[in-house]
Amino acid sequence: MLVTQQPVLRRFWYAVMPVSLLDDGPKPFTLLGEKIVIWKSSTGELSCLKDRCCHRTARLSLGFVENDNIVCGYHGWTFDGTGACVRIPQRPGEPISPKTCVPSYRVAEKYGYVWVALDDPLTDIPHIAAHERPGFRLVPEFYESWKIGALRLMENSFDWAHVAYVHRGTFGSESRPEVENREVVPNDYGFVTTTAIPVVVSEEAQKAVGTTDTESVRHIEATWFMPFARSLAIRYPHGLEQTLITCATPMDDDTCMICQWVYRNDTEEQVSAADVIAFDRAVTAEDKLILESCDADVPLSTQDGEEMHMPSDRPGIVMRRMLGKLLKEHGQSEQRRQEIKVA
Ligand code: FES
Ligand code: CO
Repeated sequence: MLVTQQPVLRRFWYAVMPVSLLDDGPKPFTLLGEKIVIWKSSTGELSCLKDRCCHRTARLSLGFVENDNIVCGYHGWTFDGTGACVRIPQRPGEPISPKTCVPSYRVAEKYGYVWVALDDPLTDIPHIAAHERPGFRLVPEFYESWKIGALRLMENSFDWAHVAYVHRGTFGSESRPEVENREVVPNDYGFVTTTAIPVVVSEEAQKAVGTTDTESVRHIEATWFMPFARSLAIRYPHGLEQTLITCATPMDDDTCMICQWVYRNDTEEQVSAADVIAFDRAVTAEDKLILESCDADVPLSTQDGEEMHMPSDRPGIVMRRMLGKLLKEHGQSEQRRQEIKVA
């Protein structure tokens, strides 16, 4: 599925950047191939426009914020949060036609991130229950773009069979590759599934989870928020609970922006945020290496031989099926990069 070619994907909220990035002015982002600019007013209100001035097409993100409006860096035309041009410095006092405007998009702040929906959203910003749980702290982890299709990364987030191999350098238990197949329970815009994964606890992992156990089982409840966000709640035998939020925000067909943060019920004194991040950095680097080697374009309905499956692929297969249904319900067919030729 080529994400930029499926208009219904524009009807979801995506985490695009930490709000703090807007402290020093407007910032550009590319969402589903669409170039957008986001800025913050003096009172913290967010605005999002197409990143293209309607005068001579300059990127508005190269401009600056003045009186809560965005000023184009080329000739100073100024736009408010609705996209209306409110000032043309070369024509003071003259009326400005309402046609002189730039398209605007829905934007909101939640969990410390900026969320954008390009078209009328079908569902809310994912509800992260851990955000409201008392006794949990939030550790922001990663904000970086990866050359991986968003769906490929999402599937991997529910593929428990990869742990024993991809993560054998950090916590995977190569001697226990079998995966428990548990039910995938769909809801309107996603699903919930659980598993228990045997892991080996390296010295680095011990540091990150605050235990001296060398072998352990991780009990996991994973939630998929269609199309490209997931929450992964992990319970450890010694009482630690952590919920990892991973958004694979689709920038274009081959690239996603990873926004990842974690909630934990321990304290900075027990395990420092730096140690938490260092361990997850090592783990995600393992995922990144393998995932960048996979085709970015994930097929929703596989033609014979394009990709083979095994039972533990079930969450990903349900994901493909639900996305296929979504396209169909909105009168769209799956767009692929090319005829896939399998020998
Ligand atoms: Fe923006 Fe001229 S291109 S003001
Ligand atoms: Co992984």
